[in-house]
Amino acid sequence: MPVVEVETRSAEETEALAALLARRLSPGDVVLVSGELGAGKTTFVRGACRALGVTARVTSPTFTIGHRYAGSVEVSHLDLYRFRGLSAAEWGDLEPYFEGAVVFVEWPEAGAAALPSPRASVRLEHVSRGTRRVAVDADDKTLLEEVAGADPGFRHGD
Ligand SMILES: Nc1ncnc2c1ncn2[C@@H]1O[C@H](COP(=O)(O)OP(=O)(O)OP(=O)(O)O)[C@@H](O)[C@H]1O
Ligand SMILES: [Mg+2]
Repeated sequence: MPVVEVETRSAEETEALAALLARRLSPGDVVLVSGELGAGKTTFVRGACRALGVTARVTSPTFTIGHRYAGSVEVSHLDLYRFRGLSAAEWGDLEPYFEGAVVFVEWPEAGAAALPSPRASVRLEHVSRGTRRVAVDADDKTLLEEVAGADPGFRHGD
């Protein structure tokens, strides 16, 4: 899949970047959000949720399987951190989150074999305390253009 890479210099910039991507999403779309601890996965999902009209507090579902929010569309937020793989039973618990919702999956590695094919894959990496490199993979060129068209202030390499 083609990749766009952007550097964000604050949590707010990561949220704004996620909002751009969110504009291209509709129910049924799955976005995988990976990266090490504290890389900004939940921050990214929070920005996307805001853009999708979610007004509820968006927090990490690390101690539950997921959250489902009502916005201008339904939005699910899953965190597979605790999983090593997904059994049929575990997948059964997760499946309802995918029905009629835009879905963001943190720590998607455990679900690699079971998850529907993603609309986009996002990877966040620490550059320094306030800076992150955000790589977005997607087949949808328009989606990538939206992301690449982010404020030049946070385009990679600028
Ligand atoms: N450019 C940036 N983008 C995103 N977050 C940033 C950035 N700079 C600093 N931060 C800070 O990094 C932290 C990221 O936390 P967040 O919970 O989003 O990470 P996470 O990847 O979801 O972590 P976990 O692996 O625990 O789920 C926040 O405190 C945020 O304010
Ligand atoms: Mg998180």
